Amino acid sequence: MSLLDAARDVREAAYAPYSKFKVGAAVRGASGAVYRGCNVENVAYPEGTCAEAGAIAAMVAAGETRLVEVAVIADSPAPVPPCGGCRQKLAEFGAAEVPVTLATTAGVLQQTTIGDLLPGRFDLSHMSRAE
Ligand code: THU
Repeated sequence: MSLLDAARDVREAAYAPYSKFKVGAAVRGASGAVYRGCNVENVAYPEGTCAEAGAIAAMVAAGETRLVEVAVIADSPAPVPPCGGCRQKLAEFGAAEVPVTLATTAGVLQQTTIGDLLPGRFDLSHMSRAE
């Protein structure tokens, strides 16, 4: 099963009673294993979590901290771009050149990378001061 198919499958499990916007995400860890996540909303809206965050949490819970491929899918007119917070989350575990496939359920695909999604990202180097 492709990474995109895994994202498409898990999207069905999304809990999105408020936005009615179901999102599925899948990441491939460096081991080759696939981890899936869907959005999980909450009546206290800011407590909801994105599909990408769920997939990353599943990867880390399984003991992996490096991802090599990402896929995200939603039923939207154009491939849905990960939110700003999810871009930073992806960048925590994936190199700039990691490929990201954004897709619609109708089959429109957009190919990008973590680096293109988050240029000028905040990283560890910004916390070290030259003495
Ligand atoms: N959402 C995701 O899960 N991932 C994205 O990349 C964009 C937005 C979710 C959050 C919320 O449950 C719903 O989509 C509407 O914003």
